[in-house]
Amino acid sequence: MAVFFIAILYIWYMTKIGLGLAALGRPEYINIRDEKNIDKSESSFKNNAFEMLNAAYQLGIRYFDTAPSYGKGESFLKEWQKTTQHSDSILATKWGYTYVANWQLGYKGAHEVKEHSLEKLVEQWEVSKEMLPDLKVYQIHSATLESGVLENNKVLKKLSEIKNETGLQIGLTTSGPNQSRVLQEASSIKINNHYLFDVFQVTYNVLEQSTFKTLSDLIKLGKKIVIKEGIANGRIFKNTPPLLTDLATKHNVGVDAIALRFIIDTLQPYIVLSGAFTQNQLQENLKALSFELSSDDLKDLTNLNVNTDNYWNERKQLSWN
Ligand SMILES: NC(=O)c1ccc[n+]([C@@H]2O[C@H](COP(=O)([O-])OP(=O)(O)OC[C@H]3O[C@@H](n4cnc5c(N)ncnc54)[C@H](OP(=O)(O)O)[C@@H]3O)[C@@H](O)[C@H]2O)c1
Repeated sequence: MAVFFIAILYIWYMTKIGLGLAALGRPEYINIRDEKNIDKSESSFKNNAFEMLNAAYQLGIRYFDTAPSYGKGESFLKEWQKTTQHSDSILATKWGYTYVANWQLGYKGAHEVKEHSLEKLVEQWEVSKEMLPDLKVYQIHSATLESGVLENNKVLKKLSEIKNETGLQIGLTTSGPNQSRVLQEASSIKINNHYLFDVFQVTYNVLEQSTFKTLSDLIKLGKKIVIKEGIANGRIFKNTPPLLTDLATKHNVGVDAIALRFIIDTLQPYIVLSGAFTQNQLQENLKALSFELSSDDLKDLTNLNVNTDNYWNERKQLSWN
């Protein structure tokens, strides 16, 4: 009986893989895309997004992450969910960035514009709330200390209101060399004596491990950790460290599965997002759930960590393609 309950608890708490729509909802994104000849029309992207969402659901994925700045990411996800009526989908979105490239191929300049004002929150919430009741997580998109969003009482109060009215979990996403400081600051914020943030979406992978201690502490406090950029936007496929290749051969999987398994075995977060663009990539990513890494392998993988500033400087140089 005890074994049965432990098994149930394990299944309940174990890390799951979710699907992010960053690469699925707009024709150009910052990944290391090798395939230059894909059809970039909106209808072709919509077909692919629906096929990916259906495949993901069939493969057991229930957590879907999107944002207004992922082009049509929110509307594709909303339409797919309305059509399929899955009762167990968990939808997550964000506010704070606006997609401005308007599906123009080769658009010069930033494809998304950041604005962490109360006005932007109210404007984007009006659209995102149409995903209720399947929408479960609402996040500040890329909160930084510099943007002042964590000190903007009007914004924090509005998020608290949304939380109280809808039961949504409120979260934030972070990027950049200061992720740990943002997480520490945000996790201490209380509105009316209640902690505001329940979910933190963070970059953590074999190359960028600087948040490990902070994330472990947050998990102990019962916060939900969602990991993004688990394969470093595809960067692990270029100049792949020999250790990743060796482990991939040993476990008969790709280097992406090794990188994602590293996250699961070291941190055991709530969700690790797959940013897959094709069904084959998704199936390869999901192989991360089919094996475990030994403690010696994990120790060796820990040594792949690079200097945090260098990691983020390189990330900044990725082009939209
Ligand atoms: N909050 C934020 O600011 C933020 C930022 C980034 C991401 N996210 C979320 O996190 C999700 C995942 O992050 P991500 O998409 O940036 O990063 P990722 O998972 O590290 O990288 C995904 C990319 O890696 C490549 N890839 C994946 N599996 C592959 C395979 N088996 N073989 C070859 N290439 C493979 C694909 O790139 P190609 O398209 O080049 O083939 C894919 O688009 C996003 O969809 C989004 O939901 C949030």
